[in-house]
Amino acid sequence: MNTEKAVIFDLDGVIVDTAKYHFLAWRKLANDLGFDFTKAQNEELKGVSRVESLKKILNWGNKELSEEEFNHQMKLKNDNYLSYIDKMDESEILPGVQKILDFLKENNIPYALGSASKNAKHILEKIHLKNSFTAIVDGTDVSKAKPDPEVFLIAAKRLQRNPEQCIVFEDAVAGIEAANRGGMLSIGIGEEKTLFEANYIFNDFTEISIEFFKKILKK
Ligand code: BG6
Ligand code: MG
Repeated sequence: MNTEKAVIFDLDGVIVDTAKYHFLAWRKLANDLGFDFTKAQNEELKGVSRVESLKKILNWGNKELSEEEFNHQMKLKNDNYLSYIDKMDESEILPGVQKILDFLKENNIPYALGSASKNAKHILEKIHLKNSFTAIVDGTDVSKAKPDPEVFLIAAKRLQRNPEQCIVFEDAVAGIEAANRGGMLSIGIGEEKTLFEANYIFNDFTEISIEFFKKILKK
């Protein structure tokens, strides 16, 4: 099909369900420091950088750490998180995602990754998708975290598209805000009660038909 559009995918919670591994690793950190947090609070961590996530969690637990201890805890969390990532393979690509990627490839529609994660390339390698993307923009490329649109604006540039030509898939409130602020079409993957600011919302990719996709690519 003929279109000037391009697509940007968030990674965690969109292509793979690494959000559950982030939750387990952050929760262990909190528990080790003597407190806990809820799944609802965890929603606020989605799309948020590693440093900002730890700041939020410490705030919930009323904990203050020295800079050295802060960095140490962040390393422990990431090591723990990576122990889950190391067991990943392509079977963890979320249902329906591959179908959309295949459709984009068949139609020569470029697509990029736009993730806050510094582990993004490693995860894409584990699930054998690293060479599939036209561009990969991750936590090592940005100076401003979501909800700032920087990550998506860099991705649009690398895709050689204007923001209005980009469609963003996101599971995080911060990510939907980033896409909207960047002037892009936002598609939320998750619950309507959380992602209501998105232009469209689906529970997962199995709900997205190729017909719907063709429609938004033409708009
Ligand atoms: C985002 C996740 O994609 O990446 C956040 O939604 C995470 O939960 C952030 O904190 C940073 O990830 P990482 O892998 O660099 O710790
Ligand atoms: Mg995400």
